[in-house]
Amino acid sequence: MSVTVVVGSQWGDEGKGKIVDILGERFDIVARYQGGANAGHTIEVGDKKFIFHLIPAGILREDITCVIGNGVVIDPNALLEEINLIESNGINISNRLFISHNAHLIMPYHKLLDNIRESGKNKIGTTGRGIGPCYNDKYARKGIRIADLLDKKILEEKIRTNLKEKNNILKKVYNVEELNVEEIIDEYLAFDAKIDKYITDTASYLNNAINENKSILLEGAQGTLLDVDHGTYPYVTSSNPTAGGASTGTGIPPTKIDSVVGIVKAYTTRVGLGPFPTEMLDEEGEELRKWGAEFGATTGRPRRCGWYDAFLVNYSRMINGIERAAITKLDVLSNFDKIKVCTGYKLDGKALKHFPTDKSKLERVEPVYEILPGWKTDITNIKNFNELPANAKNYLSFISEKSGFEISLISVGPKRSQTIEL
Ligand code: GDP
Ligand code: IMO
Ligand code: MG
Repeated sequence: MSVTVVVGSQWGDEGKGKIVDILGERFDIVARYQGGANAGHTIEVGDKKFIFHLIPAGILREDITCVIGNGVVIDPNALLEEINLIESNGINISNRLFISHNAHLIMPYHKLLDNIRESGKNKIGTTGRGIGPCYNDKYARKGIRIADLLDKKILEEKIRTNLKEKNNILKKVYNVEELNVEEIIDEYLAFDAKIDKYITDTASYLNNAINENKSILLEGAQGTLLDVDHGTYPYVTSSNPTAGGASTGTGIPPTKIDSVVGIVKAYTTRVGLGPFPTEMLDEEGEELRKWGAEFGATTGRPRRCGWYDAFLVNYSRMINGIERAAITKLDVLSNFDKIKVCTGYKLDGKALKHFPTDKSKLERVEPVYEILPGWKTDITNIKNFNELPANAKNYLSFISEKSGFEISLISVGPKRSQTIEL
């Protein structure tokens, strides 16, 4: 029996999809615990590329059961699209996908409100997938849950009550056209007919599986610095991508979680707004984006790029309890003569002891860099750690020491085969 959490250590897009696909081979179950279709987890197998938004990245391996936990917010259209994509690739999902009855549903008004709010001056740079407004309703105790789909009367009543309030807001606050309640009811009833068979009490399912000695991989979405509690608030998502969220988002008790693997990109990226101390706003930053193909898997937006920030990842290690890390996209750094690593921040000339998540401080910090020599060699076909150039090994041992974890896996390209396990 083992329960392992895979967590993004930076601002998301660390390569969680690829690593979950690799590690998943050793697990019976892969479960998502938070977020929604704001996530975009890429897996490349052979000449095929899959991007999953809601369904766990374990789905490509047919002996794995996939679970969408109670902490996830589900957009019916995104889910159905993904089920179709998987089935049209000849992958069987019947009896191997379970959706929590307690997960909340993203409604059309959530997406609309997300986009309207993003057009105002307090923009976050969200993915526009309705995530914030949906979690808003969840915590305000008026959300609509997957289980509500199972009772037509309750579903209709909840949609009517919610829409009355939302239409008022749409009309009176934002001056936009109201939504039609009957259309939404019909759409969600049709959705119910298609997903009924996947709905279950996933917390009981997962706990029974643990009792039967099955192993479970918990797949985080987003990243630590996007966590609503521990991230760079308010420029965060509305859930807990950190390891603690894996427990509340699935119903697996913290005492049953054995380990936390941090997914760590060999440099830093961020999509959307918010402070980013090591951001490269120069030509080298442009090159990093180009070499790393840093464009959003969900929205296609160019990702902001910067040097590796060991001070930030060390904070992430502390919050998540990361002991082992998978380093991704090391190959992208092969193009640089010199590589910078941020080892700490100064604020008003003084070195900071702790990572500041506070926006006003983080916007003013001065990163302290060490410069390491590059290796300028193609490493995308290397299969053994020993074959890596000395400067690449040196880089890895430097970031591992400064970030406080051991490295258990190194990714040198997007494909399954481009992986070095230690
Ligand atoms: P996730 O959201 O954490 O799953 O990451 P994304 O899928 O959004 O972004 C990671 C991108 O990098 C995807 O396009 C992956 O195919 C790609 N990728 C993953 N690992 C590597 C790697 O080691 N090297 C390179 N060059 N690309 C990688
Ligand atoms: P994966 O799982 C990177 C960012 C958005 C925005 C902020 C809030 O692929 O790593 P939201 O739509 O969640 O309300 O947006 O969070 N964001 C991500 N950035 N990777 C993701 O997911 C993200 N999901 C949300 O860009 O800054
Ligand atoms: Mg992504």
